[in-house]
Amino acid sequence: MATRVPEPRREPTLSRRQFLGGAARASAGTMIAPALLLSATGCRKAAPPAPPGEAETHTIRVTRFRGAPDGHEREIWGYNGQFPGPHIRVKEGETLRVKVINELSVPTSIHWHGMHQPGTWQMDGVEGVSGPPIAPSAEFVYEFRATPAGTHWYHSHTGVQYGDGLFGPLLVEESTPTDRYDREEILMLNDWFLEPGDTILERLLKGGMGKMSDKMEVKDRKDVGDIPFQSGLVNGKGRAPGDLKTPLTAVEVKKGETIRLRLINASSTYALRFQIDDHPLTVIATDGPPMKPVTVDHLLICNGERYDVLLEAKQGGARWIRAVTQDGNEILAILRYPDAPGAMPEAKPLQWGPRALTLEQMRAREPVALTEKPREIPLVLGGSMLPYRWGMNDQYYPRADPIEIARGEVIRFALRNPTGMDHPFHLHGHSFHVLGRSGALNLTDPVLKDTINVPSKGEVVIQWRADNPGRWFFHCHIEWHLATGMARVLEIK
Ligand code: C2O
Ligand code: CU
Repeated sequence: MATRVPEPRREPTLSRRQFLGGAARASAGTMIAPALLLSATGCRKAAPPAPPGEAETHTIRVTRFRGAPDGHEREIWGYNGQFPGPHIRVKEGETLRVKVINELSVPTSIHWHGMHQPGTWQMDGVEGVSGPPIAPSAEFVYEFRATPAGTHWYHSHTGVQYGDGLFGPLLVEESTPTDRYDREEILMLNDWFLEPGDTILERLLKGGMGKMSDKMEVKDRKDVGDIPFQSGLVNGKGRAPGDLKTPLTAVEVKKGETIRLRLINASSTYALRFQIDDHPLTVIATDGPPMKPVTVDHLLICNGERYDVLLEAKQGGARWIRAVTQDGNEILAILRYPDAPGAMPEAKPLQWGPRALTLEQMRAREPVALTEKPREIPLVLGGSMLPYRWGMNDQYYPRADPIEIARGEVIRFALRNPTGMDHPFHLHGHSFHVLGRSGALNLTDPVLKDTINVPSKGEVVIQWRADNPGRWFFHCHIEWHLATGMARVLEIK
């Protein structure tokens, strides 16, 4: 079965009931990761394979509904009544065709984060860059070739909508497998706020977040989030601090199996450090393409980034899966073996293992032939609190010049970040090689990514070939930074 977007169902699915009504909440012992359930549902209902050249059309309805994924009820914006949205799975090189019906009262869009969209930049789904948004009651059919393979995701690229729930996983299967494992699981991580994104943004713009240390002036420690952390979810489930009963996502594993975990940080605000207690993780891919495997105890996943890690299930009992903000707020899920049915892990405080994934360890599997004389474009990140805005080279999108690039040109972006916050940058339509810090560039085997953190008071150099003509966005993936100007359009002609 090629693609697995479930058709909207009339009867509520288990995952839907779980967050629509407290009464119907499944007990911890019967929890099923929503993504897996959705995938199974889609598989059963999928249409027969389309004739060659004719892709099957999937349908996604964008709606609002009530739910309480962290125990607190609020309005969720979601796809097909599900949150996170349906798990979309397609083979590398196949055509994905998705009809999106906007049943919201405001415009929306879907961006396919990680898809290169060769020759189809109008399908990239960025409001105002790829084309107009989808008006209320209107529909739009996205159609593109799925490449590159790997772990990706899709989300609204209109306003600050994705933080309200408009995102889901997008998986592109490698035509030739790059690693061996027994099975896989998706862990979609996100921070979660009680208020709608529009309200949060309005408050930020008014300067009233109550946490307005001047981000240009943080001296001793860096600022890790523009708005106070409230809670976070793993595959749409979590607990606000102090809550001890809302069900958490549980990954059931058998001793002896190797599982490919596809980790996605779909947060609007926070980078998350990921660890599974007592379980080393072998990182095999990032943002799609494979990387030279490296075994670590924990890794930082910035907004928009993806990491594929192999987990060898060698223990027993139950352990915490932790995704932790850089100021220590924890998002939890459970790894559980059959010898501990329904058990919760021991309530012990977080202790990081000794090995953290470093940028220097992130390398391609093969040597890379880089163009020696790229066109270098320096980009200095900046911002202010009054007015609240974030930008590059003193310009604030949409009042910012597009960067014009000739087709085939090799571009080197030198990103410098003098601000007190990290800024995870995402490039649309291409992957780039991460060369690292100037003076210590990796010119031999730089890893390929599409999202890279530019650390506070630090810098990063990336290089890429502009071989995909079109209008592409390049921006910080923190929603509040993107919404207030930390973005540029790249025009490749
Ligand atoms: Cu994940 Cu421009 O976005
Ligand atoms: Cu930013």
